[in-house]
Amino acid sequence: MANDKVSIHGVWASRWVFVLAATGSAVGLGNIWKFPYMTGVYGGGAFVVMYLLCIALVGVPIMLAETLIGRRGRQSPVNAMKSLAIEADSSRRWSLAALMGMVAALLILSFYSVVAGWSLDYILGMGRGDFAGISGDGAGAAFGKLTADPWRLTLWHSLFMLGTGLVIARGVVAGLERSLRIMMPLLFVLLLVLLGYSLTTGHFMQGFDFLFHFDPSKVQGGILAAMGHAFFTLSVGVGSIMVYGAYMPKKASIGATVLAVGLLDTLVALTAGLALFPIVFAAGLEPGGGPGLMFVTLPIAFGNIAFGQLMGLVFFVLVAVAAWSSSISMLEPAVAYFVERSGQSRVRVTAVLAFICWLIGMGTVLSFNVGAEAKFFVFGDDGFHLYQWGAEGGRNFFDSIDYLTSRILLPLGGLAFAVFAGWVLKREVVRDELAIGHPLLFGLVYWLVRVVAPIGVLIVFVAELTK
Ligand code: PHE
Repeated sequence: MANDKVSIHGVWASRWVFVLAATGSAVGLGNIWKFPYMTGVYGGGAFVVMYLLCIALVGVPIMLAETLIGRRGRQSPVNAMKSLAIEADSSRRWSLAALMGMVAALLILSFYSVVAGWSLDYILGMGRGDFAGISGDGAGAAFGKLTADPWRLTLWHSLFMLGTGLVIARGVVAGLERSLRIMMPLLFVLLLVLLGYSLTTGHFMQGFDFLFHFDPSKVQGGILAAMGHAFFTLSVGVGSIMVYGAYMPKKASIGATVLAVGLLDTLVALTAGLALFPIVFAAGLEPGGGPGLMFVTLPIAFGNIAFGQLMGLVFFVLVAVAAWSSSISMLEPAVAYFVERSGQSRVRVTAVLAFICWLIGMGTVLSFNVGAEAKFFVFGDDGFHLYQWGAEGGRNFFDSIDYLTSRILLPLGGLAFAVFAGWVLKREVVRDELAIGHPLLFGLVYWLVRVVAPIGVLIVFVAELTK
């Protein structure tokens, strides 16, 4: 059952580069920005517990499935699944799952770039000393002013998208590896510094309690959100990990590698939560503040500690870099696919795709200001509307894309990947790729991929539908 395919896009120098790339993809705005604010919106500990369960039982097994499909197929996710399905005498339609994931990744990139753009703006603000001695109200107002200005948002969004395109156009291996080696550890150190600051606020225990106090009555409300976020934060369900798997050297152990990535990602998210919530409480802010949470709380911290402006500057640089190393992994599956399919140059394919994402991202830019009243997916008294201006319920453009991708497309994609690896690929193929020596351990891992992860996704979907 040996496999001798080679990737036309290149292969990582070693398994460590895969770990670096996959961790770079996983650790991003999802950990530092989204996890804390979602925990706030969904009421704290119950959400965190659900999230951890989803990571361990569903997210990591699916990451494993994706990596092994990618490495076995050695092509873009769509073509990898197509060729493996044919080899396994199954339907080539399986590749539709990868196609859906590819589209989802581009949609995520569209809004991710806008939010990453905020951190670019904050780099400038910190550099200018805008936040020195700032109060909770002042920080809130500064954030409000930024999001109210479509031009300013467009500028940063464009810059970030350009940066993403540049790396992808040059090929991932050469571009990012060196900076990531330094940046990721530094990001973690600065998070610990922030954690240290939050210990001095006098509200540390309140933050801790909020994060870890389990209130069973709140489970139902956030269960699909927790599952969706587990996918988002691990970058699974869209083919990002799969395409990185395609560039992984044959000898590397997939199991240990994937586990390391999952653990690192979780550690960064929990540290970010522990650092942020005490600051929220100390400033008398609401933990349910939504997407602005990090951009309001962190300036308060940095504005009020020694060397805060400098540390703030460095911190937002690192957030931008973490976002950057994630955003490239959203573009890569589609770029690899269209390069394979059209034979066009990588540069040209990247330019077209990045432009499309940029354009869709403008919807998110406008959803924070002039387009805030454009609502989608409205369930009103008079029935369902896909779109309605100024509707009471419904979601704005940004929320809609976020909802569609995290809650629906990612879990569906992940489900398909797990079923494909678990039931369509032959057992020997999986065994050969995973190369887990111990039969019991292999049995356990295989069972997680085949049974536990798919059932986990289904349970959460049903729980949500019957809410
Ligand atoms: N995992 C990234 C983060 O947490 C986001 C991401 C999602 C990246 C999907 C790639 C694919 O920020």
